[in-house]
Amino acid sequence: MGIADPSLEVVRLTPKWQEGLQEFFQDLKASGDGVFFAPHPADEDSISRVAAYHGKDLYYLLVEREKILGYGMLRGWDEGYQIPSLGLAIHPSARGQGLGKILMDILHLLALRRGADKVRLRVRANNEKALHLYKSLGYVLNEDTHQTGFLVGLKNIGRE
Ligand SMILES: CC(C)(COP(=O)(O)OP(=O)(O)OC[C@H]1O[C@@H](n2cnc3c(N)ncnc32)[C@H](O)[C@@H]1OP(=O)(O)O)[C@@H](O)C(=O)NCCC(=O)NCCS
Repeated sequence: MGIADPSLEVVRLTPKWQEGLQEFFQDLKASGDGVFFAPHPADEDSISRVAAYHGKDLYYLLVEREKILGYGMLRGWDEGYQIPSLGLAIHPSARGQGLGKILMDILHLLALRRGADKVRLRVRANNEKALHLYKSLGYVLNEDTHQTGFLVGLKNIGRE
């Protein structure tokens, strides 16, 4: 079934989205994907802290009216790294439509506009869907030497 009045917006995470983000994490957990996506704790206090965050790192949402369809982030600048780490999840009800790819493209653009020429990420070696997506976008993946069962991906985003 389609949506009568579809709309898609990319917005920066702000406190207004706190409850929505809490629900987003609950839905991810319920779908069994919580294990793949745990960028920060998902309790109320932690989410309210992230929603009110001000700093160099970037937290973005893909929304349709009041519903969060995607959550993506670029982190590491606050800690002084040149190459940001990317993370994302798409709501279980909105998968397989290209939203993950769009959110990745947007995060890459944001990183580029911030002056980064590479983006990195960490992914569980058994996260097939995410691995397909990352490979299709040109990430080079290698075993994480610090933690077995994880891969580290790196992608050039700057102009060659
Ligand atoms: C990984 C994830 C973000 C993909 O989101 P999505 O919106 O469904 O992805 P898209 O529709 O943009 O698909 C893009 C690509 O992802 C891969 N993909 C998507 N669904 C897939 C599936 N069911 N099986 C295998 N690959 C899949 C494919 O490579 C696809 O490209 P294609 O359409 O050319 O085949 C989503 O599954 C998710 O949120 N997973 C849980 C959280 C997570 O694992 N985050 C990453 C942590 S490192």
